[in-house]
Amino acid sequence: MSTFLRIAHLSDLHFSKISKSPLQLFSKRWVGNLNLLLFRKREGAAKLLDSLCQLLFHLKVELVLITGDLTSTSHRSEFQLATLFVKQLHALGMEVVSLPGNHDHYTKRAYRQRRFYDFFPGHFMHEGHPFSSVNLKTHAVGVKSLGNHWWLVALDTALATSLISSRGYFSKEIEDHLRDVLIKIPKKDNVLLANHFPFFQNDHPRKKLVRGEALKSLLEEFPCVKLYLHGHTHRRCLADLRANGLPLILDCGSTGMGGRVCWNLIDLEEGLIRIEHFDSKEAQWEGGKVHSFSLEEG
Ligand SMILES: [Fe+2]
Ligand SMILES: [Fe+2]
Repeated sequence: MSTFLRIAHLSDLHFSKISKSPLQLFSKRWVGNLNLLLFRKREGAAKLLDSLCQLLFHLKVELVLITGDLTSTSHRSEFQLATLFVKQLHALGMEVVSLPGNHDHYTKRAYRQRRFYDFFPGHFMHEGHPFSSVNLKTHAVGVKSLGNHWWLVALDTALATSLISSRGYFSKEIEDHLRDVLIKIPKKDNVLLANHFPFFQNDHPRKKLVRGEALKSLLEEFPCVKLYLHGHTHRRCLADLRANGLPLILDCGSTGMGGRVCWNLIDLEEGLIRIEHFDSKEAQWEGGKVHSFSLEEG
């Protein structure tokens, strides 16, 4: 069977530049910088990311989907580093779709200014298309046709939080926009839903997605959502929850933290999804076992 779309799922790249500005003491940024100094060194990640671009090119990846936390403290210099990385992918012929994580709306100012969107405008659909009326920046929901009866729907559930919190918020407003989009998608089509946060709550409450239960209920209502891609946990996860009326859940782990670059290769085929995990700690970027999921079984 032939692949009609090859996707690379990346997340939590956390490009960082430690700020020495005293102004950081007036925002949450000093916490992020302290965190970077103590725990979040990106030893060797830049070189690994360069070779990742080449690997994605050789694997003929067409679409790169980044599920948030491109930066560490939402500083413009960090967004510029993230932009350079995305430009490398563009130069190699790949399309890139990014959505923000909590670190991309890190300070109240960056969130209020919607700074992420200065670098990554959230307009996926061209004018005149039925879904061009919603976009990620304004409605927190962006839609893109992937062809072959597949749709990518991206969410922005991140917001600036207090010093010790990294919560997201699936507001009623976002829920309404998402429902409107899912109702309009033809019944027999398939949806890949991408969000920074997982909707199930296994982590500490201060890291959770508030109203995650509402998102879970919505997913139960719309079985057309076949894949839910997220990041935030920095842990690899593949959970087939279709027996419970939920989609396949995927977190690729962090693409760059701790000098380790993890990501997933996703092949969309006729009636089939194939998923392979890659980890730079493994010899020569070898992928792991390929997991195949028939869409008919779901
Ligand atoms: Fe992260
Ligand atoms: Fe996060």
